[in-house]
Amino acid sequence: MNRTENPEFWRSIYQAGKTGWDLGAPSPVFERLVQHRQIPPGKMIVPGAGRGHNARLFAAHGFEVTAVDFAPEALAEMRRLNTPEHPIILLEADIFGLPPHLSHTFHYVLEYLCYCAIPPSRREEYADVVTRLLKPNGFYIALAFPIGEYSGGPPYAVSIPEIIELFTARGFDLVLQECPPDSPAPRRGREELLVLWKRTPRHTSF
Ligand SMILES: C[S@@+](CC[C@H](N)C(=O)[O-])C[C@H]1O[C@@H](n2cnc3c(N)ncnc32)[C@H](O)[C@@H]1O
Repeated sequence: MNRTENPEFWRSIYQAGKTGWDLGAPSPVFERLVQHRQIPPGKMIVPGAGRGHNARLFAAHGFEVTAVDFAPEALAEMRRLNTPEHPIILLEADIFGLPPHLSHTFHYVLEYLCYCAIPPSRREEYADVVTRLLKPNGFYIALAFPIGEYSGGPPYAVSIPEIIELFTARGFDLVLQECPPDSPAPRRGREELLVLWKRTPRHTSF
């Protein structure tokens, strides 16, 4: 087992306060998406949600959001930051072992910094999980980071051609690909890319 597949690995990072990936707020890219009403509210799931900043952003805009993480510290933080006005549903679980009743129930899967946290050897499986969670015509919204070519991780390097291959093979149509002008400065430019995929009904095998 790769060490990043073990919740204990992530627990120790949270306990040591070494969560350098955490912006302490939602991504400005997602803020723009919701504020400009580019996507209508619906049921959303956020795998590897961490402290849940992005999950709460969408909940505050009328989405019904389920946030999943397998690190108890992340869940404790999401519980602490959850609000009664716009609550998110919390699920302490491994994304590779989600209960079957969640299959095909979401309009959106929101991805930020989970794909780069799982071992690259499980990316096919990750794409299967996303496919299984979405309703037909649902959307996979991914802010891909860090795009590059290097070995080691996490974060493991993200390859856009690889993502395109994974999701095209599962019947997704790429509806948006954007180099966001509003990514936080260190991530802006070639390292971060917003991609929006629609799961087309012709693929219903998962
Ligand atoms: C780099 S952090 C990103 C957190 C959050 N998405 C953000 O943008 O701040 C990766 C998160 O994914 C969680 N994670 C990694 N593998 C997971 C898995 N197989 N199932 C559930 N959560 C996982 C970790 O516990 C950690 O909270």
